[in-house]
Amino acid sequence: MTKKASAQQISFITGKGGVGKSMISYAYALKKAKAGEKVLLIEIGETSFFDRMLGSKNNKITNEFNNLSTTIYSGESCLREYILHYVKIEKVTDLFFDNKVMRALIKAAPALKELALMGKFTSGVRNIGYPMEYDRVVIDGYATGHFLALMRAPKGMYEAIKFGPMGEQCLSIQKVLSDPNHCEYKIVTLPEDLPVTEALEMDQTLQQEFQVEADIICNKVLPTDFVEALNKVPDKNQFIENYKLSSEEQQKSIQVLKQKKQTTLVPYIYETDPAILLKSLSEYV
Ligand SMILES: Nc1ncnc2c1ncn2[C@@H]1O[C@H](COP(=O)(O)OP(=O)(O)OP(=O)(O)O)[C@@H](O)[C@H]1O
Ligand SMILES: [Mg+2]
Repeated sequence: MTKKASAQQISFITGKGGVGKSMISYAYALKKAKAGEKVLLIEIGETSFFDRMLGSKNNKITNEFNNLSTTIYSGESCLREYILHYVKIEKVTDLFFDNKVMRALIKAAPALKELALMGKFTSGVRNIGYPMEYDRVVIDGYATGHFLALMRAPKGMYEAIKFGPMGEQCLSIQKVLSDPNHCEYKIVTLPEDLPVTEALEMDQTLQQEFQVEADIICNKVLPTDFVEALNKVPDKNQFIENYKLSSEEQQKSIQVLKQKKQTTLVPYIYETDPAILLKSLSEYV
């Protein structure tokens, strides 16, 4: 049975660009859906990476697990929804939204969009706006720098406003974000120098600024069983050389990570079909 909205869990996935945030988000949502939770996987932006990557297979997967849905929110659509919630009349909201003043406001305070997104993600837990009847929402978050802007928006806005309904909302969003009973954070990295450094820095920043303890997911770890991996590929010589070098480099970075944080290792999976890849990944996250 679906938990009450107030018991909802929010899983934020972040990490350096290209490390596998989207795949890990989907795989994690899939894992939780397989375990029986009703899950909403949220992408941020205007166009869907999942639709582009998976095509009709996206529907196939979500149809197979009828407790898994995917959606996409943009900062602007969330801001519009927020205003509609207060103004209540669609036509007036349209006017307001198309208005030059509104555009200027968004330009002057870009954190408004970030705030609207965070308001939407936490609306189920806070029981406001449209009902979000899911056990868990998984957010395929922005890459690290932009993700911190998302995290900082409610606090920053609260410090600027402090009073009134908007001030109160900023504070309530902020409280949910720092509440380990509702929110978890997963930083995806690759077992390589720069991504590891960035992941550990992000972990520190999340701890210091928001008092949250993130999990680290180290993705695309080369299989340690070299022979088994070799047997799976056609062009062997080049592969052997690359494999040795990469594997040694990876193990060094994994050691750095493990000394600082408990880390989930997700293997590199040699599979070109994204739907099969996702299912395999969901076994590890
Ligand atoms: N464990 C894995 N094994 C093999 N391929 C993987 C694995 N994880 C991710 N990939 C592939 O790596 C590529 C990048 O993954 P993905 O798009 O999820 O990264 P991202 O961090 O979301 O990127 P962006 O920052 O652009 O949003 C994709 O082509 C995906 O199929
Ligand atoms: Mg992505």
